[in-house]
Amino acid sequence: MKIAMIGTGYVGLVSGVCFSDFGHEVVCVDKNPAKIEMLLRGEVPIYEPGLDSLMERNVAAGRLSFTEDLATAVDGADAVFIAVGTPTRRGDGHADLTYVYAAAEEVANCLTGYAVVVTKSTVPVGTNREVERIIRETRPDLDFDVASNPEFLREGAAIDDFMRPDRVVVGVNSERAKETMGEVYRPLFLRDFPIVYTDLESAEMIKYAANAFLATKITFINEIAALCERVGADVKAVSKGMGLDGRIGNKFLHAGPGYGGSCFPKDTSALARIGQDHSVPQEITETVIRVNEAVKRRMIDKLRDLCGDSFNGKTIAVLGVTFKPNTDDMRESPSLTIVPAMVGGGASVRVVDPQGRREGEALLPGVAWLEDAYEAAKDADLLVILTEWNEFRALDLERVAGSMATPRLADLRNIYTAADAKAAGFEEFVAVGR
Ligand SMILES: NC(=O)c1ccc[n+]([C@@H]2O[C@H](COP(=O)([O-])OP(=O)(O)OC[C@H]3O[C@@H](n4cnc5c(N)ncnc54)[C@H](O)[C@@H]3O)[C@@H](O)[C@H]2O)c1
Repeated sequence: MKIAMIGTGYVGLVSGVCFSDFGHEVVCVDKNPAKIEMLLRGEVPIYEPGLDSLMERNVAAGRLSFTEDLATAVDGADAVFIAVGTPTRRGDGHADLTYVYAAAEEVANCLTGYAVVVTKSTVPVGTNREVERIIRETRPDLDFDVASNPEFLREGAAIDDFMRPDRVVVGVNSERAKETMGEVYRPLFLRDFPIVYTDLESAEMIKYAANAFLATKITFINEIAALCERVGADVKAVSKGMGLDGRIGNKFLHAGPGYGGSCFPKDTSALARIGQDHSVPQEITETVIRVNEAVKRRMIDKLRDLCGDSFNGKTIAVLGVTFKPNTDDMRESPSLTIVPAMVGGGASVRVVDPQGRREGEALLPGVAWLEDAYEAAKDADLLVILTEWNEFRALDLERVAGSMATPRLADLRNIYTAADAKAAGFEEFVAVGR
C-alpha cells in the first residue's frame, strides 16, 4: 500500500512510522518547515520512547520519507490520512476543524486517482461527511471514498498502543473503502487484533465517548479522593478494592492533580458542545469538566496550606510539569494552573522535568529550570511532585529532606507514603486522598 500521512504531530508521526513498519510505503507531510527539516535530518521533533529507532529503521529501508509538498505525498496514494490538530476553538469550546477542512481541500486538489481519504484526527459527528462534500465540490471528477479511523494511542506508550491496539475502529460507507482499510491494517488483523467496522458517524462518536468516559473515571476517583481525606480513608486502597472488580477495572483510577493533556480537556469540551447543539446536553461530561477544574484548584489550596497560608517568599521545587511521564507534551497540563498560582502568589519556583523544558519555558514564565531533583530541593521550603516520571519514584528522601530549609513534601501522584516521608525526616507531608 502507498500511504500519505498529513500532519507529523504526536499522532501523524507515530502512525506514519508504524504503518511503514507494517511494510507500507509511507510519505509524511507537514506544513511546518522546521519539523520537516528535523525529520529529514533524522531527528524526531517530539519525545516519544522508541520512535527514533523505529523511524531510522524504516527510513533506511526506503519505506518512509518526509516532505513539505502535499502533492508529492498524495501522488499515487491508496490511502491519505488526515492527522492534523483539532484544538478547542477559541471562545466556544467546539473542536476547531479549520485544519481538517483545509487539508481535505488540499488533498482534493492533489489526488491523481482513486484513494480513501481517512480522518484520523478526533472530529465531531458529521465531519467526515463534510470532508466528503468538500472533496466532491473541489473535484467533482474524482473517484474517492472517505473513512473515519480515530486514533486511541497514548503519548508515552504510543508505539506499543499502535502496534498492539485494544481495537482499531474504522467507519466507512463503501465496500471499496472497507477493502482498502482492511489492507492498511492487515498486519494487525492477521495477529487477531479486533477491527471494528462501522458507519462514519458511529466511528466519530466512539472516540469522543471513549475519551469522555476515561476522563469521567479519573474525575470520579479524584472526587472520591477529596472525600477520603475528610473521612480518613486511603484512596489508593479504595482504588485497588474497586479496580479488582472486573466490571470496573483498575486503569484510570489513580487519584492525582486532575486530568490534562492534548485530548481529554478538548474532547470533553467538544462533546459537551455537540450535546448542547443537538439539545441533548451531556450532563455527566459537563460535570466532569467542572469538577476537574475544581480538582486543580483544590491542589493549589493544599499547597498553599502547606506553606502556612501564603506562597509569598517561599522557595518551591516542582518535580515534573508535563501532563504525564514519558512525553514532552505540556498541553493543558495541571502544572499550567498550579505553577502560575505559586509564582503569582510570590513564591520562587524551581522546576525539574526530564523532557518538559523545551515546551515549558514559554508556558511557565518566571520559574528557574534545573536538571536535578536534589539540586532543586536544596534550601527549598516545599517539594512538590506533579508528574510521576520514573526518576522521581525512587528519590533518596532522606537526602532531599536533609537539604531543604523546611522539609515539606507534597506528593500529588501518591508515590510515597506518610510513613516514608516521616522516616526520611519530612516535617510535613500531603498526598491526594489519603
Ligand atoms: N496527541 C495524542 O495523544 C492524540 C491521541 C489520539 C488522537 N489525537 C488526535 O489526533 C489529532 C492530531 O493530534 P496531535 O497531537 O498529533 O496534533 P499536533 O498538533 O501534535 O500535530 C498536528 C500537525 O499537523 C500539521 N498540519 C496542520 N495542517 C496541516 C496541513 N494542511 N498540511 C500538513 N500538515 C498540517 C501541523 O503543522 C502539526 O505538525 C487531533 O485531532 C487529536 O485530537 C491525538
